[in-house]
Amino acid sequence: MLPRTPLFFLPAVRFASKRFASTQSLRETLQDVIPAKQEQLRKLKLNHGQTTVGEVKIENIVGGMRGLKAMLWEASVLDPIEGIRFHGLTIPDCQKVLPPAPDGKEIIAESMLWLLLTGKVPSPEQTRQLSSELAEKGDLPKFVEDLIDSLPKSLHPMTQLGIGVSALNHDSAFQAAYERGIKKSEYWTYTLEDCINLIARLPTLAARIYHNIYKPTTQMPSIDRNLDLVGNYARLLGYGDNHSLTEYLRLYIALHGDHEGGNASAHTAHLVGSTLSDPYLSYSAALFALAGPLHGLANQEVLRWQLAMQKELGTEITPENIKDYLWKTLRSGQVVPGYGHGVLRNPDPRFIALQEFCDTRPELKESSIIRLVNMTAQVAPGVLMEHGKTKNPYPNVDATSGCVLYHYGLTEFKYYTVIFGVSRALGALTQLVWARALGLPLERPKSLSMDALEKLINQ
Ligand SMILES: CC(C)(COP(=O)(O)OP(=O)(O)OC[C@H]1O[C@@H](n2cnc3c(N)ncnc32)[C@H](O)[C@@H]1OP(=O)(O)O)[C@@H](O)C(=O)NCCC(=O)NCCS
Repeated sequence: MLPRTPLFFLPAVRFASKRFASTQSLRETLQDVIPAKQEQLRKLKLNHGQTTVGEVKIENIVGGMRGLKAMLWEASVLDPIEGIRFHGLTIPDCQKVLPPAPDGKEIIAESMLWLLLTGKVPSPEQTRQLSSELAEKGDLPKFVEDLIDSLPKSLHPMTQLGIGVSALNHDSAFQAAYERGIKKSEYWTYTLEDCINLIARLPTLAARIYHNIYKPTTQMPSIDRNLDLVGNYARLLGYGDNHSLTEYLRLYIALHGDHEGGNASAHTAHLVGSTLSDPYLSYSAALFALAGPLHGLANQEVLRWQLAMQKELGTEITPENIKDYLWKTLRSGQVVPGYGHGVLRNPDPRFIALQEFCDTRPELKESSIIRLVNMTAQVAPGVLMEHGKTKNPYPNVDATSGCVLYHYGLTEFKYYTVIFGVSRALGALTQLVWARALGLPLERPKSLSMDALEKLINQ
């Protein structure tokens, strides 16, 4: 257990002389790895500042910067074929080595956070220590509770989450320290403090939004200091006694934690953070990017679409009928939600991991909606290939994620992106700490008008 005022958050210079446990804390582990990374960056800038790693084509500029190697992101790298690696570890690697909760088997947010932040695999003891730290810090300030309670229940839960996260900047350690005047070398310590506080409070905020909108007459439970972050989230939502759903949420939140830096939400957090906005403001901006239907909203769209398919096909759920439904969707000018990806060119390993989870649970194998998802995944790639537009006809993680929640009774699908928002904080906030530790500058790419581009072409 950590002491009440954890040494974890004391500035590095005071911290170095003290130890509170035989187990290295997250902060100590991070502090150990920072100098080597700083040196790596120094050498890259010094020796290879002018090395070319790709070219910029007009198609990159007018095509949403696809494929442009243009930002530094430490926590994970996404290969189009192989999928995501977190500090070199694939999803199956993570499932083997990252400690689960004491009562579970799935990866937990604390283990993933530790890996993303430090590149190291934590011991079970270290994850327990971090869990109690997060539980200790999970309560919301009263004014944020009042603010969230005052919002109209009809306001989209993602809008509410963004409002709540930005309001938490009232207590930003980074902002207060910056106003006081601190050295650049200390930025990361206060950024880390904010990031940990925000990660700790996100489930409480997200659960309060859920209760206000969907369960206004039920009392939200309090945080259990002995539970992990997502165990507590499930508890606060009112599903604490559903062990399968809790385990699913643990896996889902850990796997969704990071997907390299170029995706809209991670990139937004990075861009806003580069102005030295504090982590609360940076991450609230990221949440509004996540709220778009081409990004985080896709999981609710998938469910809506699969349920509409189920309703229309009734008892006639056959591959042929699914195929017809897919064509109907495409001919009406809509995208097939849950398929395609900005980078991936193969089935998403996160989709595969969630499918494997479903295969271990008889109730999910029997679920009509999960069976429909599976049948759709068999048929859709062929249809999308024939359609000939998307560069990736395979399912992405969202093809199944919301449908599992639905099966377990968490049926309010407008809320699903909020769960994604709780998850994505792990990676986006990790990178904010690294951006400050590495002294990354204000992000400021060059834009050009079409006339300016034509002038360049004709030069
Ligand atoms: C994820 C997504 C936004 C990536 O977009 P992208 O990088 O522009 O994808 P592509 O380069 O393959 O797109 C090329 C064309 O195929 C279309 N396309 C891509 N995915 C498609 C899908 N699932 N269904 C139908 N058409 C699709 C695009 O709309 C685009 O059409 P356009 O040329 O008329 O604009 C896109 O695949 C999509 O909209 N998928 C459905 C939503 C979704 O599942 N999002 C969650 C992602 S994790």
